[in-house]
Amino acid sequence: MTAPKRYMVTSALPYANGPLHIGHIAGAMLPADIYVRHLRSAGEDVAFVCGSDEHGAAITLRAKKEGVTPKDIVDQYHELMKKTFAEFGIEFDIYDRTSSPEHHKNAQDFFLTLLEKGSFEVKTEEQYFDHEAQQFLADRYITGTCPKCGHDHAYGDQCENCGSALSPTDLIDPRSVLSGSKPELKETSLWYLPMGDHEDWLRDYIENGQFEGKSQHEVKEWKKHVIGQCKSWIDSGLQSRAMTRDLDWGVPVPVEGADGKVLYVWLDAPIGYITATQKWAKEHGKNWEDYWKSEDSHLVHFIGKDNIVFHCLIFPILLREHGDYVLPYNVPANEFMNLEGDKISTSRNWAVWLHEYLEEFPGKQDELRYVLASIMPEQKDSEFTWNDYKDRVNNELADILGNFINRAVVLTHKYYDGAVPAAGELLPQDEEMLQTIAATPEKVAKLIRGYRFREAQLEAMNLARAGNKYLTEEEPWKKIKEDPERVKTIMNICVQVAANLPYVLHPFLPNTSAKIASALGLNHLEWNEAGKSLLEPGTSIEKTPILFTKVDDELVSAQVAKLEEAKAASQERELEPVKANVPFEQFAGLDIRIAEILDAEPIKKTKKLLKLTIRTGVDERTVVSGIAEHYKPEEIIGKKVCVLLNLEPRKIKGVESQGMVLMAENAAGELSFVTAEKGAEPGDGVA
Ligand code: 2FM
Ligand code: ZN
Repeated sequence: MTAPKRYMVTSALPYANGPLHIGHIAGAMLPADIYVRHLRSAGEDVAFVCGSDEHGAAITLRAKKEGVTPKDIVDQYHELMKKTFAEFGIEFDIYDRTSSPEHHKNAQDFFLTLLEKGSFEVKTEEQYFDHEAQQFLADRYITGTCPKCGHDHAYGDQCENCGSALSPTDLIDPRSVLSGSKPELKETSLWYLPMGDHEDWLRDYIENGQFEGKSQHEVKEWKKHVIGQCKSWIDSGLQSRAMTRDLDWGVPVPVEGADGKVLYVWLDAPIGYITATQKWAKEHGKNWEDYWKSEDSHLVHFIGKDNIVFHCLIFPILLREHGDYVLPYNVPANEFMNLEGDKISTSRNWAVWLHEYLEEFPGKQDELRYVLASIMPEQKDSEFTWNDYKDRVNNELADILGNFINRAVVLTHKYYDGAVPAAGELLPQDEEMLQTIAATPEKVAKLIRGYRFREAQLEAMNLARAGNKYLTEEEPWKKIKEDPERVKTIMNICVQVAANLPYVLHPFLPNTSAKIASALGLNHLEWNEAGKSLLEPGTSIEKTPILFTKVDDELVSAQVAKLEEAKAASQERELEPVKANVPFEQFAGLDIRIAEILDAEPIKKTKKLLKLTIRTGVDERTVVSGIAEHYKPEEIIGKKVCVLLNLEPRKIKGVESQGMVLMAENAAGELSFVTAEKGAEPGDGVA
């Protein structure tokens, strides 16, 4: 493997269906921005691209909900996201969008090349169709019960509860998200990618870092959870995946007779990375192919864990089938960031929205960047809380970094009118401090290049910690009278620490670093310059502005209250639409009765399921119910509840369920039994 000459860095294209939140940033954009800022300052040739993903059900469903067109939605959110990234200091070379004519053409050409090469299988098959909405139902358009975990709101592409990848036909009791009606099967043709044909080389690529007999990347540099997820897909047998959808919003399938069909996100969004690079290259006199097709280019995709299979298996297949492209060199996917004890959710409005943060905390981009990098979910899920934000800003940024810089600069002004003093004879503690200055840049660089951004930031901050400790222990204010020569050495060293900090911190804290650098008269923060004494004796330095102000408890409680209010408001709005009418006969056909729970036990290897034995009045039978997170087995024995008796029996986790216990679900997602107010006995009918 030769050293790379250039880097092609991408951040997952966010869907333009809502504003950006901290989960997006912590997952795919901030790590990429830190990585790229470091590479650029080290003089590497880098292209860094992103853009809005403007197609797919995420957009069309939002448009439908708001009663506007998909174009209205993407225009609104594309502009907002672009502005937010710029204000937050995520420095893409280009922030593009997938609804552009250039991208449509590019994705279509890519599809046609693969079609010519015979990379697809065309299959005619039955797909769910909603007659009321006159639309095929794929992905998020269809919901039902997950066959794997029993969750009753799984989607046609995935169950968000257990994470299983699903097809619409896997769902039990499928319902259309558009009308609530039960969809019917109807024939259509789709282009499939036969992933199974690619199993052998993909295994070699993922497990050994080999591609076509050549070493392609160091497996030990890939994150374990990324390799783990890919292996588990490969081990369970790669299935063919449909690469087109029957929808009217997206990149049209460029084949005669394919009206009403569009390319699926897998053949659309990642090609968006290529389109964006082409556009940027054209505008900057570069050759895009150097970044995508030359062996000495490292292609690095920053994504969240939900996109691992997409970037590590599917996109590599597409690139290889097309030919000439390099394969991803690394896909340092992050896990998820939770918020105040709950999953971040756009629909439940449980999020810290970036544009709101920027409005409410002007000039405090670095504070949030710092906190997010400190808790970046690199190896496992992590959690943002406002209290932790407060602690890190106050105890680390203000008390360590801000305090050190301020003391170093203020004392230099007080003792020497702002001119850097010359160092004299060095004591062991001075040597040690200079050693720390010298060792820090390499340590930080190694961690950044190894995608370990949390540790990298910690290491960079350790230089400020060491400087703070040195200054506190040397106590120049006590020595200035009797030993002014010694103080010159101490202050020279403190100023050198201060001057090195913006070099090693700027990938994480670009604004703060710029302020420090400007006060110290440092113009170009070139990485290779760092590690030495940067300011000659006699150099004048200016006073720095206050770098960080402290956060108080009131701010924390106000932000937490704001979250709770927003969630409550969204729950009011989030009621599902009334389902389509059913004829009386259909209702009368349901046999709902009171039954008594005789026994309850958890179903092994599931979190949600209980196996209930019930007395229905007519018999005793077994029912599987997804209530284990809401009731303990022992507390429900003896309860008399409503049960649908004539639901077709089905096996869930190996247990045959002969009916369904009816549950009410409140806005917080809590389940409770439906019972007869005046009491009733097993066998009594409910109608
Ligand atoms: O999952 C998502 O957020 C999609 N918008 C796809 C992102 S990855 C892509 F850009 F390749
Ligand atoms: Zn599930």
